[in-house]
Amino acid sequence: MAMRQNGNYVTRTNEGSSEAPKLRIEPLKSSGSIDYLDYVDVTPIIGREYPTAKIEDILSAPNSEQQLRDLAITICERGVGRGLLTEDAAVFFRAPQDNLTIEQQKHVTYMLGKLTGRPEGHGLHVHPLYNDPNNLPMADGTRDPNIYVINSEAMKKLYKTMKHPSRVPSEPRDPSLEWHSDSLFENCPSDFSFLRMQDTPSCGGDTLWFSGYELYDRISPSFRGYLETLTATCAQPVFKSACKAGGYDVTSPRGSPLNKNYEFAPSHPVVRTHPVTGWKSLFAGVGLHVSRINGVSSYEDTMIRDYIMRLLTRSHDCVARFHWTKQAVCIWSNPCTLHAATPDTHLVDGIRVGVRASGIGEVPYLDPASKGRREALGLAWN
Ligand SMILES: [Fe+2]
Repeated sequence: MAMRQNGNYVTRTNEGSSEAPKLRIEPLKSSGSIDYLDYVDVTPIIGREYPTAKIEDILSAPNSEQQLRDLAITICERGVGRGLLTEDAAVFFRAPQDNLTIEQQKHVTYMLGKLTGRPEGHGLHVHPLYNDPNNLPMADGTRDPNIYVINSEAMKKLYKTMKHPSRVPSEPRDPSLEWHSDSLFENCPSDFSFLRMQDTPSCGGDTLWFSGYELYDRISPSFRGYLETLTATCAQPVFKSACKAGGYDVTSPRGSPLNKNYEFAPSHPVVRTHPVTGWKSLFAGVGLHVSRINGVSSYEDTMIRDYIMRLLTRSHDCVARFHWTKQAVCIWSNPCTLHAATPDTHLVDGIRVGVRASGIGEVPYLDPASKGRREALGLAWN
């Protein structure tokens, strides 16, 4: 069996064996230590909301690490609630987490990955533009390299060098451009992201999460097989151009010794295996950070990405939408979700301000022995 040893992945092989192919990494199972928490499932497909739980109580419990490990697994896989398929790739803590410190937020984000096999030497991400003078401090005026302050107004200054070729001022916004998985521009992208909203406008700014497992499962087997042969370039040249314009250096390394280059153009598998569940997820086929499907013509590149985006936007039953309230929290698994903010806060008074910590996982891989979630669980469509 494949094992996790000191956080490093050990590849197992069964060459010459008549057994079914073995997974490269053994999936993890929850011990049930957080089953005592009240929750509601947001949809049958994705999302779980804890209406009253306080993260600080989990941290102060005698079995804190066990609960954090089970929380991580809950975020990555699914629970079966009321006989329905429920996949919890994003969990929400609705009760205000106002006593949770920044250090605790970072600790939780770090431990979720550490307890579920994050490679040794990987930790929390540092944003490439951390040195930008427009990068806002936190509410108390301090800065932290592992905390990314999300501010709807400051973003306009931070990304002023970004090209928006598809943005025509006279046309309505296209919110589908917002879909992404965090830090795909890194060789080792994010595993868990933890966002706490500190300030919200009167309405608007909701975030949506989409299940990458379900996106994969909704593609026909023959086309899935083709997509599994593909990689995508995830280029984000805005970081170099922003640093050059601002006269400061790109931050490096960024949560992993492997995230120290300045090119921001890695190739990632279009379909990947989730290291915690062993299930296939449509990962780098579409979105803000996916710039090119490799090895195909430009026409085919456009066709493939348009197809995946169409599949995504026609499947709103795979979406968990979260309306932010002050000090609410969402934690999600990036290998099996895409998420999108709703760009409508300019229509109302108030600023949307959040603090995000993000862990850095492994180099994304596709394990040929892995299966789609529905196949692995024997779930029919109807
Ligand atoms: Fe994001």
